[in-house]
Amino acid sequence: MSDDVAQSGDAKSSAVLAGWSEALSVGSTVLDEDHRAFFDLATMLHNLDGAQDIDLIIQSSLSVLDEYILGHFLREEKAMRKVNYPRMAEHVLRHRRFQARVRAIAHEYSQGSKAVVEGLPDLVAEWLREHILRDDMQYKNWINDRVVDDRPLVFLAMEAEG
Ligand SMILES: [Fe+2]
Repeated sequence: MSDDVAQSGDAKSSAVLAGWSEALSVGSTVLDEDHRAFFDLATMLHNLDGAQDIDLIIQSSLSVLDEYILGHFLREEKAMRKVNYPRMAEHVLRHRRFQARVRAIAHEYSQGSKAVVEGLPDLVAEWLREHILRDDMQYKNWINDRVVDDRPLVFLAMEAEG
């Protein structure tokens, strides 16, 4: 019964956030580690209730999230380009849409709409879980660590920003 609740996906604030498991492995330890970092960040945000300096933590989490998005998406996209992955265009489009959604939330938050971040942990964890299962898994037979730029995310984020 409790599985039904956990899998319903439409709960505004589910008790348990989606997390990483072997079932989500895309065949590259570097990309898997990035995905774990996203889930960890979402979990941290999910468990903030009652923390001190919550505004500061949220603001810095939003900039870390932006960096993860920039860096990780570039890492995936560089690998796809390297192997001439045929479904790259639609994959990149999904990345851009998610990036725009998160940036809009960060912008609204910075403008004073503090409540916009309430759904953020679920958005990040659910979007990522679905994206991995639906989109990333499709490159599993194309991409492995040999074609992945394994520098730390921060370097890729800087490269993405040009
Ligand atoms: Fe992706």
